[in-house]
Amino acid sequence: MKKLIMGMAALALLFTSCEKDQPENVNELAQESVDMSDFYVHTDYNDEDGKAAQNGKNCYSMKNLNRLLKEDDKLYRKMYDIEKNTRSILAKSSNANKGKPGSGDGGTTPPPTDNIGIVTIPVVVTVVYSNSQENISEAQINSQIAVLNADFRAQNSDASNTPSEFASVVADSEVQFTLAGVRRYSNATTQWGTNDAVKGQYPPETPATTLNIWVCNIGGGILGYAQFPGGPAATDGVVVGPNYFGNTGYVSAPFDKGRTVTHEVGHYLNLRHIWGDGRCQQDDFVADTPSSDGPNYGCPSYPTTNCRSTDMTMNYMDYTNDNCMYMFSSGQKSRLRTVFASSGPRAAMAP
Ligand code: ARG
Ligand code: ZN
Ligand code: CA
Repeated sequence: MKKLIMGMAALALLFTSCEKDQPENVNELAQESVDMSDFYVHTDYNDEDGKAAQNGKNCYSMKNLNRLLKEDDKLYRKMYDIEKNTRSILAKSSNANKGKPGSGDGGTTPPPTDNIGIVTIPVVVTVVYSNSQENISEAQINSQIAVLNADFRAQNSDASNTPSEFASVVADSEVQFTLAGVRRYSNATTQWGTNDAVKGQYPPETPATTLNIWVCNIGGGILGYAQFPGGPAATDGVVVGPNYFGNTGYVSAPFDKGRTVTHEVGHYLNLRHIWGDGRCQQDDFVADTPSSDGPNYGCPSYPTTNCRSTDMTMNYMDYTNDNCMYMFSSGQKSRLRTVFASSGPRAAMAP
């Protein structure tokens, strides 16, 4: 009798372990069936030719990424693996999403990154100034943190400007920011460029768990640049010009609403430009941002049509003026939150 009970217990154990095994196998299968055939890190078409680098407002995050890719031949593979993991996580949220990276909103199962909850990122701001104007005020720094919080939580007042075509995909990314520290350094350098020299002189503070933002004059009319997930820890973070930081104090219109940092933090959390840095065929790997032929500038009228669809010119990941960009989409939310998954590159920031 005892033997029989033991036997049944063992059998039951076997059954439960079989049941446990199944989802794991399914996950492994999903991981293997991820289609990576369209993966690329950057297309060069607007990099060196002055055409798209209109008014020097070209995105130097991509230029910086190209430099890092040249310096480190393992970075491409790292970013490929991060992308594969992102797609694998999103594919699990719904069968309807299979092959549609970023569309964490199409199915009945919520994105698995939902249960991570609200992510609060501590921010260390390093102000490097060559004159008193560049030594921006505490009020200006606080204004940027407030803009980040409003924009990433979809609490920005201009979100209500979103045309009805896109209103249903405006997303609260459930990422927020707190000011963890301000460091100030006087330095004779007047233009820091985009080669991370400022980070070498003033290394980041605990980059695994902290967003580092260097506020210094970059030069060449460059607003800011970010490092994508997967890059070296020693240069992780965002660099931005003092007059494009925050929405009060020493700020320059039309980039005076703090949206440069919103855009760069989007890159820092693995969002790409909505036109995919290429023509209609190139993609940002987000399903609910319509394909576009290139960046939009200024304050485009609605609808602006490219690639047979309306451009989401009001998305933070386009190149429009600060007061003409006011939303992330739910697909972007799903995508960026995968970086906080336990297998993601910014897992250490998850609560
Ligand atoms: N293209 C800029 C850069 O990375 C960022 C775009 C910011 N756009 C804005 N409206 N603030 O250099
Ligand atoms: Zn950019
Ligand atoms: Ca898209």
